Amino acid sequence: MKIAVNGATGYTGKLVAAELVRRGIDLVLIGRDKERLRQARIEAGAEGAELRFADIAVAGAFDGVLDGCDAVVNCAGPFGALGEPVVAAAVAAGCHYVDTTGEQHYVKRVFDRFGDEAARAGVAVVPAMADDGGPGDLLGHLTGAAVSPVAELVFGLWYRGGGGSQGTMRSMLTVLDAAALDYRGGRWAPGAAGPREAMRFPGAEAPVPMAAFGIPPVVTIPRHVRVERAEGFVNADLVARLRAVTPELVESLPQGPAPDARREQRWTHVAEAVGVDGRRARGEVEGSDGYGLTAVIAVEGARRLVADGAPAGVLAPAQAFDAAGFLDWLAPFGVRWRVETG
Ligand SMILES: NC(=O)c1ccc[n+]([C@@H]2O[C@H](COP(=O)([O-])OP(=O)(O)OC[C@H]3O[C@@H](n4cnc5c(N)ncnc54)[C@H](OP(=O)(O)O)[C@@H]3O)[C@@H](O)[C@H]2O)c1
Repeated sequence: MKIAVNGATGYTGKLVAAELVRRGIDLVLIGRDKERLRQARIEAGAEGAELRFADIAVAGAFDGVLDGCDAVVNCAGPFGALGEPVVAAAVAAGCHYVDTTGEQHYVKRVFDRFGDEAARAGVAVVPAMADDGGPGDLLGHLTGAAVSPVAELVFGLWYRGGGGSQGTMRSMLTVLDAAALDYRGGRWAPGAAGPREAMRFPGAEAPVPMAAFGIPPVVTIPRHVRVERAEGFVNADLVARLRAVTPELVESLPQGPAPDARREQRWTHVAEAVGVDGRRARGEVEGSDGYGLTAVIAVEGARRLVADGAPAGVLAPAQAFDAAGFLDWLAPFGVRWRVETG
């Protein structure tokens, strides 16, 4: 099995490369700068791994780059600007695709643009296999299934501590530029959701104030849960801090948090579902070290697509993988989840 890492010189790409080495999987490292890519290979302990070079921003430069690979983990963001040539190359090469995006509009574009093409090519494309889109979508599936058909699903992410990478900040600036999508009556549209009162989270002393935000689970969950309305929120203090970030500030930051700070980061996702018959379900999933866990999730996702197969096409995580099985598999990495009804 040969899995490529695109964006291998980045903060997340290096963690993904190290995870592939840890798992004993053959890897190919892809980047645009020879020196940085050679250095990334050393840092990942991947001596002997093949290197491939392409600047995605140059039209046509990424064509053929994934030939001969079984799967790719795409970590080169912002995905709204750089993602589509990589998906196109994966589909053309018959190479399964996962990525680490947290950009909601990009995820929707991948479904809209590549769904038929990927299905015809027999390729599985699973965007947003990161610490938000992956566990979030799987939890949404299990919560929705408990009271299906669902009238309303509210999804909340609570992030605290640790700090973000430069790449995350660049991507989040693009997310803030676009109106967050809600799902209503069979379609996605810019939402009317304003600041939400607080949501309850395990471990929070008081309900956490939330703000509407464009998160991937709102785009992926309605593909496998019968739901009339879905909305997404993130803790309001984080959204306020992101709104204060400027492009100039991003360029002055280190590439990403130091390992100790990274491991101090905590995340919790809550899904609240109300069935059309009034029954209620609540799902919770929580963990730490979002970047380290993203590498674990993306690599395991890519590995499963190759080893176990999946339906062809663009898929939400819960369409590609067994939801409870995947979340349970994350337990040794500190991930805990539960769904309660009533
Ligand atoms: N949803 C989540 O929970 C989650 C978690 C982790 C990461 N992410 C996302 O993953 C992405 C990467 O994050 P990061 O922290 O790793 O960012 P980063 O450190 O800035 O890495 C970005 C990577 O993209 C590459 N790249 C940029 N422009 C390119 C181009 N024109 N051609 C080829 N490669 C190019 C960079 O290469 P150079 O070194 O040559 O610049 C680098 O390897 C971000 O969008 C982030 O939001 C999301």
